[in-house]
Amino acid sequence: MKIIVGITGGIAAYKAPELVRLLKKAGHEVRCAATEHALEFVTRVTLETVSGAPLYSDLFASGRTEHISLKDWGEMLVVAPATANIIGKVASGIADDALSTLLLAFSGKPVVMAPAMNCEMWAHPAVQRNVETLKSWGIRMVGPAEGELACGVSGVGRMAEPQQIVDAIGEGGPLKLNGERWLVTAGPTYERIDSVRFIGNYSSGKMGFALAEALAGAGAEVELVTGPTSLNISTSQRVNVHRVESAREMYAAATEVFPRCHGAILSAAVADYRPAECADHKLKKNGSEGMTLELVQNPDILATLGGMKREGQTLVGFALETDNEEANAQRKLEKKNLDYIVLNSLRDKGAGFGVDTNKVYIIGRDGSRTESPLLSKQEVARLIINTVTS
Ligand code: PMT
Repeated sequence: MKIIVGITGGIAAYKAPELVRLLKKAGHEVRCAATEHALEFVTRVTLETVSGAPLYSDLFASGRTEHISLKDWGEMLVVAPATANIIGKVASGIADDALSTLLLAFSGKPVVMAPAMNCEMWAHPAVQRNVETLKSWGIRMVGPAEGELACGVSGVGRMAEPQQIVDAIGEGGPLKLNGERWLVTAGPTYERIDSVRFIGNYSSGKMGFALAEALAGAGAEVELVTGPTSLNISTSQRVNVHRVESAREMYAAATEVFPRCHGAILSAAVADYRPAECADHKLKKNGSEGMTLELVQNPDILATLGGMKREGQTLVGFALETDNEEANAQRKLEKKNLDYIVLNSLRDKGAGFGVDTNKVYIIGRDGSRTESPLLSKQEVARLIINTVTS
């Protein structure tokens, strides 16, 4: 594909040459367009060397309508990093430099943006409104991710990694899962005890959100059913988020969408039991030493989907184990009628709940076995999707 990489003036501009390199490695032809401020962070020589083409940065340099010829050449425009400024300009129809002019001229062709800015700027209602406007016009957002920012604080605002951007735009060919719909469950469930307490677990939702973003990056429409988490989806408008609290709510949402899906990956940590009764007020100490809570079993969402599964649907479960890991995972694979089970063990350092990394064993019903080293949850998500859709 012929891709124009647009670079704007943020510190993450230093990652643009790596993005260009990865795009070329994936077989794309690349040309760069940069704002004047971007060239404070990354040089013309670097961009021209990695892309192998002249940089477009001056609206008047050649006295010609270069934004139009570049628009005619490009099949996709990827703006990385995309500052609050360029997002605001495009949302308002402003074209006062080379890149913003090219962006307006590019209307009707695919545009992907990888926002990068301070977390307070990202959260500002004006920026959020502008992002929503761009999304409603079909511009895809990749990121921003959460993490340490150049200004020293931590929050949402980091530019997505170059490899994530490359994956999100479809690794060169037509997107692998275009036209498919996938269900993902994520996060914990909360089982209410009374109006202020619940039984929960340590799942953050990171694994499930990474799966949803990777599926969307591969072209699928995603139904993400998530338990309580502070995470937000950042990839694109392809992910439809259903926020639920309890296992029974997750069950209702998942069983409702599954018949319309090509596949499902259930990574949620669902509570097996819930209190038999939920008090509608705050329970008080009753003077005695102890308290007994009666629990009843929750429905097993994965096993139910295994029973509903039609020919051609792919069902993937997770197994979080501490002992007899493989044997337990294999048992779940068979008992719940799965095509694959993704085993992660709490014995592996850096794997499982809360952390940004995971180490998994993907076991197929056909006896296949794929093992990963410790990777970021985004990388693990891509590995899982490549394995279960190949
Ligand atoms: O959210 P993170 O902090 O990123 O952590 C990710 C994770 C550790 C939660 C994830 O990688 C993981 O292992 N998820 C599955 C956790 C779990 O509950 O495993 P399990 O072995 O108890 O359940 C087996 C499978 O049945 C899972 O796919 C689970 O979603 C599903 N299940 C379980 C019980 C139930 N009532 N309904 C279900 O669908």
